[in-house]
Amino acid sequence: MSIGDDLQRLREQAVSQLDATHDSAALAEWKARYLGKQGELARLSRGLGALAPAERPAAGQQFNATRGALEHALSAAEQRVKEAAQRDAFEAEALDITLPGRQPALGRLHPSTQTLRTIATVFGEMGFQIWESPEVETDAFNFGLLNMPADHPARDMWDTFYLDTPPGDERVLLRTHTSPGQIHAMRHYAPQPIRVILPGKCYRYEQITARHEMQFHQVEGLAVGERISLADLKGTLVGFARRLYGQAVRTRFRGSYFPFTEPSVEFDIECFLCGGNGCRVCKHSGWLEILGAGMVHPNVLRNGGYDPARVSGFAFGMGPERIAMLRYGIDDIRWFFSGDERFLQQFG
Ligand code: DAH
Repeated sequence: MSIGDDLQRLREQAVSQLDATHDSAALAEWKARYLGKQGELARLSRGLGALAPAERPAAGQQFNATRGALEHALSAAEQRVKEAAQRDAFEAEALDITLPGRQPALGRLHPSTQTLRTIATVFGEMGFQIWESPEVETDAFNFGLLNMPADHPARDMWDTFYLDTPPGDERVLLRTHTSPGQIHAMRHYAPQPIRVILPGKCYRYEQITARHEMQFHQVEGLAVGERISLADLKGTLVGFARRLYGQAVRTRFRGSYFPFTEPSVEFDIECFLCGGNGCRVCKHSGWLEILGAGMVHPNVLRNGGYDPARVSGFAFGMGPERIAMLRYGIDDIRWFFSGDERFLQQFG
C-alpha cells in the first residue's frame, strides 16, 4: 500500500470526524490527534525516510497537500463552532421586547401639601400672594409684638418649645403659630397695602394625641389697607369655604378672643358629614370649626409700622391638617407625620 493511500484514508477519517465535532475542546483534541507533533500525520511522515529517493518528492507533495487540507478543514470547523456558540449565547440572552415594562414607583404629594396648595390656589385667585416667614422666632415676634406682653395670660394658649439661649439673651423659640409672619410682612410692606397668605410649619410642646401633634402646618392670612372692614373678612372667608366645600355650604361666625385681633371670631362650616343634624365628627353640634380670625388689633398694626388711624386690616389662621382631616375623614392627626406609606398612598 502506498503512502498516498494512507494519506487519503487519514484525510477522509479526519475530515469526517471533524464534521462531527461541535465544541472547542473536541476541536483541540482533534488537532492534537491529527496535526500534533505526536499526531497521525507526524507518524506517517516518519515513513517518508523509507521511500526510494525518486519517490520522495511526490510523496512529500502529497503529504504537504494533506496537511494543508486538514489545516483548512480545521479553521473552517473552528469558524463554524464559534458562530454556533455565538448564536447560542444570543438566544440565551435574548430580550423579549414585547413584555410590558416595569412601572417605576411614583411619589405623590403629601396630603398636607395638597391641602396647602388648594388653599393657596383659592386665595391666589382672590389676589393673595404667598409670604413665607421663619420657623424659628424670637419671643417678641411670636408673642410680644402680637399684643401678648410677658405674663399675658393668653400665652398659655400655646405651649412652646424654647431653644437654649444664654441667660439674659432674648428667648428664641419654634413658632407656635404663623401669626408672627404678620409682623414680618407688615414691616416689609408698610405703608403699602397688603394681601398675603403665610403658609408654614408650627410647633407646640403638646402631649401627642389623635387630635394634637407637636408639629403641624398653618396658613395665616393678612389684609391691610384703607377701609378694610369685617365685611371684607366675612366675604373672603365665605368665598373660601364655598370654593372648598361647594357653593351650597352654610357658614357661621362666632365671637371669640385672640390677643392680636379685635373683634375676634371663629369661623364654622356646616358639618358636611351629617348635613348639620349632628354626628360624632361635629360632636353633635352640626358645625365644624375651621379657623380663627378677626380685625387686626391697633397695637399689632402699630408694631408692623402702620398707623391704625389711617388703615385697618383683617387676619385669619387655619390648620391644613385639620381641613384635610375633615375633607378626607381622617380620624387621627398622627397619621400625617407617621411616614406610613399605607396612609400616604391613599392620596394619589
Ligand atoms: N394664631 C392663632 C392660633 O394659632 C390662629 C389665628 C386666630 C390667627 C386669629 C389669626 C387670627 O390671624 O386673626 O391659634
